[in-house]
Amino acid sequence: MQESKERLQFNMINMIWAMDEENIIGYKNRIPWHCKEDLIYYKEHTKGKTVLMGEATYYSLKGYYKDKPLPYGKIYVASINDIKLDDATIVPDLISFLKDFKDELWVCGGATIYKLSLPFADRLYISFIQGKHEGDAYFPQIDYSKYNLIFEKKTEQVRYTCFERK
Ligand SMILES: NC(=O)c1ccc[n+]([C@@H]2O[C@H](COP(=O)([O-])OP(=O)(O)OC[C@H]3O[C@@H](n4cnc5c(N)ncnc54)[C@H](OP(=O)(O)O)[C@@H]3O)[C@@H](O)[C@H]2O)c1
Repeated sequence: MQESKERLQFNMINMIWAMDEENIIGYKNRIPWHCKEDLIYYKEHTKGKTVLMGEATYYSLKGYYKDKPLPYGKIYVASINDIKLDDATIVPDLISFLKDFKDELWVCGGATIYKLSLPFADRLYISFIQGKHEGDAYFPQIDYSKYNLIFEKKTEQVRYTCFERK
């Protein structure tokens, strides 16, 4: 009990994403569907939090938010390019970063970053979006036998879940 509480507070790597029935998560660097209730759910979980995302996802979000600040706490952006960002810290070596990270982190995509982060994640917050969509970015296959389903809520459009590593 004590141990899991400590893990929860100090060293919890969460991943959060939405995917359709064919594991599609993106198309032309955008989300392929418009699902307001899932955006609200995503914001509820990530607002003010420490987040990690790839460079492509960062610029995609900047496109949505335009001049408004991104609604997170500390922002880490994984990139192997030599770039500087006003509102984010660049992570040039994602694997070392995840190995050494000792805090609560929310991994927010995209496809490349999800794939590299999956082995380090404690919890997966997956929104299963109904239907099939045109897309060019996929979530990799997940071995669900490695996780327990600890939360599930179904609406007409979405099955919200949280899986915790066993
Ligand atoms: N449905 C959802 O929930 C959701 C959420 C977020 C994003 N998305 C979608 O995902 C798609 C974007 O995914 P993406 O794979 O193209 O991009 P991405 O994961 O956002 O960004 C990839 C970045 O990671 C960098 N990188 C690769 N290996 C690295 C390492 N070992 N250390 C540090 N940085 C590293 C790459 O650098 P280089 O460019 O220099 O190689 C690249 O800039 C978009 O379509 C977006 O809409 C969907």
